[in-house]
Amino acid sequence: MKNFFSKSRGLFLLFTSFSFLSAAQLPWYYKTTVYQVYPRSFYDSNGDGIGDLYGIVSKLDYIKSLGIETLWISPFFSSPQEDFGYDISDYKKIAPEYGLEEDCDLLISEAHKKGLRIVFDLVMNHTSNQHPWFIESSSSENNPKRNWYIWKKGKRPPTNWKSMTGGSGWQYDTKTNSWYWATFLPFQPDLNYNNPETKAEMLNIARYWLQKGVDGFRLDIFNCLYEDSLFRDNPSSWRMVPSEQNTDAFFQKNTFTQNQNGSMLFSKELREVMNEFPEPKYSVGEVFGRADIINKFCANGQGIHSVFMFKTLHTKFKAKAWGKLILEADSNFKSPLFPTWVLSNHDKKRFISRLGNNEKKMQLVSALQLTQRGVPFIYYGDEIGMKQQHFLFKQALDPIPKKFGKFAHVLARIAGESLNRDECRTPMQWDDTKNAGFSTGMHPWLPLGKDYMQRNVKDFEIYPGSLLNHYKRLLKLRREHEIISLGNVEKVEWKGTLLKIARSWNGKKALLFYNFGKGKKKIKLPGGGKIYNLTPIGQEERQTLHSFQAIVWIDEEVN
Ligand code: GLC
Ligand code: CA
Repeated sequence: MKNFFSKSRGLFLLFTSFSFLSAAQLPWYYKTTVYQVYPRSFYDSNGDGIGDLYGIVSKLDYIKSLGIETLWISPFFSSPQEDFGYDISDYKKIAPEYGLEEDCDLLISEAHKKGLRIVFDLVMNHTSNQHPWFIESSSSENNPKRNWYIWKKGKRPPTNWKSMTGGSGWQYDTKTNSWYWATFLPFQPDLNYNNPETKAEMLNIARYWLQKGVDGFRLDIFNCLYEDSLFRDNPSSWRMVPSEQNTDAFFQKNTFTQNQNGSMLFSKELREVMNEFPEPKYSVGEVFGRADIINKFCANGQGIHSVFMFKTLHTKFKAKAWGKLILEADSNFKSPLFPTWVLSNHDKKRFISRLGNNEKKMQLVSALQLTQRGVPFIYYGDEIGMKQQHFLFKQALDPIPKKFGKFAHVLARIAGESLNRDECRTPMQWDDTKNAGFSTGMHPWLPLGKDYMQRNVKDFEIYPGSLLNHYKRLLKLRREHEIISLGNVEKVEWKGTLLKIARSWNGKKALLFYNFGKGKKKIKLPGGGKIYNLTPIGQEERQTLHSFQAIVWIDEEVN
């Protein structure tokens, strides 16, 4: 019966014209905003230098005060922490440095009490090589867990497949003289989803957390769950470095290792599991590739609920680039789907630093992010403009720079990029006291951002013109006006440095203007309605838009 209702809910959404649904009928995730917490760096409640779950609990009021609605927490499960939690050795246990099971239960219940939704990170593709399943699986060819991972015999790697981090993804294990497949790093062996037992267990792990009250999942490298079952070689490519449009890299196409049909079909099975629950659950897949390919993971509302769109991370600070992106997102994620808006995360260069640490530009781009249809994702610390830090190669804790070596680390730095993900994971800057108020201990696990004396939550809360208060204003406006989070995109136009978007929702209209230029711009607004400034720059004027200013006009009654 449950299943029947959940299926009919999906079909209902599919066949009902989106704009006739009032927001009250739409599941919560259509209009939510997500804040990503990297638990190790957020708040350390016991002074060991490592952020923890109780630390997050004690900062829930802060998150709520921002006007955020959903919390996503990067993994805090048992793990040898070689990839800081993305290498799991027990999916149901909490790593001791993050706290106890009770802390986790408390986090879920306290978040809910405050009206926040909470999303966990589910790493389905691989485990740690120290997971008991892998220890068993690698122990002998006859072990019952052998088939839980992808093993092949032979003198040479079974295919030419490259890992996502370069080099062959096949790792040789001398115990059984066999190769195992690892999409990411050698200590992260891929699970075998062609084995029904493994798949069922992973779906049960999803159920376990959903039953505990979690509202959904962020799905780690979800487009890598399946590989070609015929083990065909990948074709070659000219690409060394992947782009957001094209995941081919290291001179190889990912034809048989990413975005396989199996992974897309699995997304429906996972959705079915989420549909078993009476309250709507939410999922967002970390997938890579062209928008028209990755939207297949959403299977028209029958698959996972949404996918990350990482193109925003590489979009130039130009009206045309953003205009095109918004059109592309809209046309590839028509209802019942919706786009996502990502500007930073724990793997990428900090958002403000990608804009040359220019706070005015950041104000404009965050205004863009928070005034689009779909779900925005804010990475902790972006609301105070935390910057990318620069660390020496020998200081790196992240396994990626260690794998690539010093030369690549330096080359990346020269190119304005970073291989060391520690540099975007520094402790949250709460105030100007010791350790930026992150920890009372001797040594935070990573060095602090150098500017924490001037750039911290405590100071930014007081100063009305701060980035933090800008985020609060935007999030409030977004909550109060469905036309911003849900409204249809009617028209997107750009001319020089000016971007203009027309939206509509339930008979209402809105016009959004963004000025990417250094000079003023003339704009034309219809009579009446109400204007809201979207940036700390400029006034609500009817005819002029200042440099880097954004406004929205909504045809509503002026109170
Ligand atoms: C994802 C995570 C990243 C992790 C990798 C392997 O890309 O975001 O942090 O290292 O998957 O799990
Ligand atoms: Ca895989």
